[in-house]
Amino acid sequence: MKHLISMRDIDRGQIEEILKEAERMEHLLNKGKPLKLLEGKILATIFYEPSTRTRLSFETAMKRLGGDVITMDSKSSSTMKGESLIDTIRVISGYSDIIVLRHPNEGAARLASKYSSVPIINAGDGANQHPTQTLLDLYTIKREVGKIDGIKIAFVGDLKYGRTVHSLVYALSLFNDVEFYFISPEELKIPKDIKEDLRSKNIKFKELTDFIDDIDVLYVTRLQKERFSPEEYEKVKFSYRITKDLVEGKRFIIMHPLPRIDEIDYEVDNLPNAKYFKQSYYGIPVRMAILYKLIG
Ligand code: NCD
Repeated sequence: MKHLISMRDIDRGQIEEILKEAERMEHLLNKGKPLKLLEGKILATIFYEPSTRTRLSFETAMKRLGGDVITMDSKSSSTMKGESLIDTIRVISGYSDIIVLRHPNEGAARLASKYSSVPIINAGDGANQHPTQTLLDLYTIKREVGKIDGIKIAFVGDLKYGRTVHSLVYALSLFNDVEFYFISPEELKIPKDIKEDLRSKNIKFKELTDFIDDIDVLYVTRLQKERFSPEEYEKVKFSYRITKDLVEGKRFIIMHPLPRIDEIDYEVDNLPNAKYFKQSYYGIPVRMAILYKLIG
């Protein structure tokens, strides 16, 4: 593995290796001693779209491994003067040992990898893929449900534009006997190509408009407002909401890649099955594992 661009580029064996490495990293983190595994290496984070968790957890992960970080924000860089992504990547790959890139265009990370002299990690390319989020989602499922094979998972929310959903559905299709439920209003349905991929693999899925609770994981997403036209957005806003009554005392865990806007009530946060803040913490050991695998 030279770059990490899409979950489609890695197989189940490689996924399991990363999850195992993340467990080792979590263990090392818990010991609280400074690490030197990536001492002398530099991570560059290049973000053309907003980010809190992805960027800061990558930066934390690199620092926890003893490495350094440089960062570029498109709003305060030569992007504003009209510099292209390709030129930016050519230059910054000469400054760093590995690059984490987020960009609004699908395929941007793949394009960048063709011009970079160092590994590229895709931190989200439009509505397409977000593989490091997927790896931390898989890690959360493994740690909190205890297994990945055979789970029943329901996705709720913006299944049309939610790239974390697109990446995770594909990754879970590599495991055995996972059952999928896609719960969304008509306007936010999961894309056809994803359904076709599941059908071609003979994987069970159902599209629903109502909630169900015989599941192991409830994966909620925010409406990806920035990918809708204003008219489209007006039609779908406030179209789903997870309340305490709906989920209290249920056996499933609740996940969300965050940021949460208004789709999960704050009252849900303190329930024992609400795992979304833990999930965002798991981003640290998982991203440490990914950095170490690529340049360790
Ligand atoms: C997600 C993203 O950027 O796709 N955020 C994240 O990385 N945790 C989800 C989102 O923005 O809704």
